[in-house]
Amino acid sequence: MSSSQIPNDHASLAAWGREDPVRFIEVVLGADLWDGQREIVRSVFDNPRTAVKASHATGKTFVAAQIVLAWFYLMGPTKILTTAPTWLGVSRLLWSEIGRGHGRMPSDMGGTLLGTELRASRDWWAIGLSTDEGVRFQGHHAERMLVVIDEAPGVRPDIWEAVEGIRASGDVRLLVIGNPVQPGGPFFDAFTKDREGWATHTISAFDSPNFDGIESLEQLLAMPPEELDKNERPYLVTRRWVAEKARTGARGHRCSRPVSMATSRCSPTAPCSRWRGSTKRVDQTHPTATRAGR
Ligand SMILES: Nc1ncnc2c1ncn2[C@@H]1O[C@H](COP(=O)(O)OP(=O)(O)OP(=O)(O)O)[C@@H](O)[C@H]1O
Ligand SMILES: [Mg+2]
Repeated sequence: MSSSQIPNDHASLAAWGREDPVRFIEVVLGADLWDGQREIVRSVFDNPRTAVKASHATGKTFVAAQIVLAWFYLMGPTKILTTAPTWLGVSRLLWSEIGRGHGRMPSDMGGTLLGTELRASRDWWAIGLSTDEGVRFQGHHAERMLVVIDEAPGVRPDIWEAVEGIRASGDVRLLVIGNPVQPGGPFFDAFTKDREGWATHTISAFDSPNFDGIESLEQLLAMPPEELDKNERPYLVTRRWVAEKARTGARGHRCSRPVSMATSRCSPTAPCSRWRGSTKRVDQTHPTATRAGR
C-alpha cells in the first residue's frame, strides 16, 4: 500500500483503521503479523470476550501489544487496563512490546508513552497494572474499554472478579491469553463450562509459520536435523524446540507437559478430556460477531 492511500488527518485515519484493524497494525504500526495473530486482532474488535490458548512463543504477547496500540488510537477516548501475573510480565514483556510498537509509529499520532502508561488525556489512557494491585482494577468505567490479561492462567481469581465488575457498563472488550497449563480456574472455564460467552481460539505450534507444510508431530520427528533449523520466523516457536520437547517428555499432568503446551492440546493425538471441545483452532465465536476476512 502506498503512503498516499493512508489518510493523513487523525479522524480519517481512525475511521480507516476501524474498517480493518489488521491493516492498521500492519501498515501504520509496521508489524508483520502471521495468520494466527490476525485472527486474534479481528476477534478482539468483533467480540466482547476473546480467550486464546496457544503454544509458547507463538507471538501472543506481541499481538496483544499491537492490539493495545490499535485500540488506543482507533477507539479513543478509551481506557485500557493490562495485566499479567508478575510485574516483570507487565513491564518487561507486554509494555516493552507496546514501547517498540509505539516507537515504530508516525511521531504525530499523539499520546505520551511513559513506562507502562500511554496517555492522550485524563479519560483516554492505557496502563499496565501488576496483579498485587487488585484494588486498582476496581471502579474503572468508560463508554469503551479494553482489558488485556497476559499469561492468564496465573492471574488471581480476584482480578478476574474485578474485571467482571468493569464489564458491568459500557462496551468492554476482554482479551485473555496464555498457555493451557492448568486444567482449572477462570481461564480454563472460558474454554469449557463458560465457553458460551467467549470467542475462543486455540493455536498450536503447528499452526505457526515455522511449521508450514508439517502436518504432524510424527512428520516433525522424522525430519533430519538441518530441516529442524529451517525456521521462516526464528523468533517464533521453532521446529527444534518442539521436537526436543516431544523427545524428552515431562512429568506432571498431561496438560502441563511441554509438548501439550506446544500443541495447545493435552496430547497431539488424544486431547485431554478436561480441555475436550476446545481443540479446534478457531473454537467458537460470539454469535454477534462479524468474522471479516476468515
Ligand atoms: N509478528 C511478529 N513480528 C516480529 N516479531 C514477533 C512477531 N510475533 C512475535 N514476535 C517476537 O517473537 C518473540 C515471541 O513472541 P511472544 O513473546 O509474543 O510469544 P508468546 O506467545 O507470548 O510466548 P510465551 O508463551 O512464552 O509467553 C518475541 O521476541 C516477539 O517480539
Ligand atoms: Mg507471552
